[in-house]
Amino acid sequence: MWHLNLSIDSEARETLAARLRNALRRQIEEGALRSGTRVPSSRQLATDLGLSRTVVVEAYEQLCAEGYLLSRRGSGTFVADSAHPEVGSALTPDETPESDLWDLRAGGSDVSAFPRQDWIRCVGSVVRSAGPRELGYAPPSGLPVVRRTLAGYLGRVRGVRTRPDHLMITSGFAQGLALLCRVLRDQGHETVGVEDPGHPGEWAFIADAGLRPVGIPVDRDGLRVDQLAASGVRAVLTTPASHFPTGVALTAQRREHLVDWARAVDGWIVEDDFDAAFVARAHRLPALQSLAPDRVVYAGSASKVLAPALRLGWLAAPPALTAPIERVRAGWDIGCSGLDQLAFARLVDTGGFDRHLRRLRAEFQRRRQAVHQHVARHLPGVTPLGGDAGLQTYLVLPRWCAEDAMVDGARRRSVLVRGGRHYALRHDDRPPALVVGYAGVRGAELGRGLAGVAAAYRDLGGRVSR
Ligand SMILES: Cc1ncc(COP(=O)(O)O)c(C=O)c1O
Repeated sequence: MWHLNLSIDSEARETLAARLRNALRRQIEEGALRSGTRVPSSRQLATDLGLSRTVVVEAYEQLCAEGYLLSRRGSGTFVADSAHPEVGSALTPDETPESDLWDLRAGGSDVSAFPRQDWIRCVGSVVRSAGPRELGYAPPSGLPVVRRTLAGYLGRVRGVRTRPDHLMITSGFAQGLALLCRVLRDQGHETVGVEDPGHPGEWAFIADAGLRPVGIPVDRDGLRVDQLAASGVRAVLTTPASHFPTGVALTAQRREHLVDWARAVDGWIVEDDFDAAFVARAHRLPALQSLAPDRVVYAGSASKVLAPALRLGWLAAPPALTAPIERVRAGWDIGCSGLDQLAFARLVDTGGFDRHLRRLRAEFQRRRQAVHQHVARHLPGVTPLGGDAGLQTYLVLPRWCAEDAMVDGARRRSVLVRGGRHYALRHDDRPPALVVGYAGVRGAELGRGLAGVAAAYRDLGGRVSR
């Protein structure tokens, strides 16, 4: 049934059919009825409006004759495309599908690996069994049963020490970060330390919340805690398991120093653990949060491990921050989709999530090795930073190699890739770099993309060994 919200002019000077035609024409011209929209059958509209069917047929015929409607035999009547031609495209340039390009930009997810069948099974089982409680409003922080599952899962795989009532399900990490920034600002913070290089999108979130991101350098041991201490900030956002975008892991000693710093300044550490699942097991340390649950806000996300479209993330907050975060959240929205939360918990409880991650981890490990082998063979003088982690490899280029020229050269070979400067908060004298993301490209595509990068390097003078 296609219904239509329509009110007809009660002015009786014109016939009913003319008034109906005018009302429909107005809706089309004003854009409420858009091109391609199916309108109700004449019988249905006549019933809905309490009119005789001949009145509706007459109005429809007139609008078809005027080019507003289009009648397709057997499939119904539609608002014609010519009624209001679309101006431009709704897609921004970044979203333009570029099917002929190899996209090696960091920040993607392998959505082709999304476990569709498992997810369908979980959604089906949740929808079949959902009662009034599951279909009604959940607490804004998330359904208690889901938070119980998540607390158990995070404790099991990441050593996170939390309780369900200190966990909050968020709409992705993005919302978690925005909530935290708001709470920090309410507590009087004006600045937040961020890793430099790091994620420009996160800096924008922080700045939008009225805080100033302060860049803290990262070296081969991770975040420079000495520089953090010298910066004067009292809150820091960090990716200790696998620094974004270099993939460097924060060493055990630096972790201790970081926690000591937080205690000394009475500050907070926000641990962004979004891709820790892909760190090779031998190199994976428990979450930083396990060292100081009273100082570290642990944050995770389903975006890289399942799909960004789910918009599911979580925060495990220190007890002292739980209530302030909940207060802010209560004023923002009334929580995330309870059905999605339950489907996710079901995936975890049935072991499907662990199975999926095992497969994905092995796949990313293969891609990472392919990048490292390709660099060793075809990009002499280029050094990968970081180890067995991350969904991208940070390649330090020789000083003579201009980063922008590499990016442009790769683009001319249909490869999209970003230079290190894209991820730099301060534009200082750091060596040129290229950040090669491999989350969204499978085997052969990755090989083609890397070949394009090597060709760009060769063109600039990089000698290729045979
Ligand atoms: C550094 C970093 N943290 C977290 C996320 C996950 O964000 P969200 O859960 O909002 O998709 C991303 C996604 O690209 C990221 O790059």
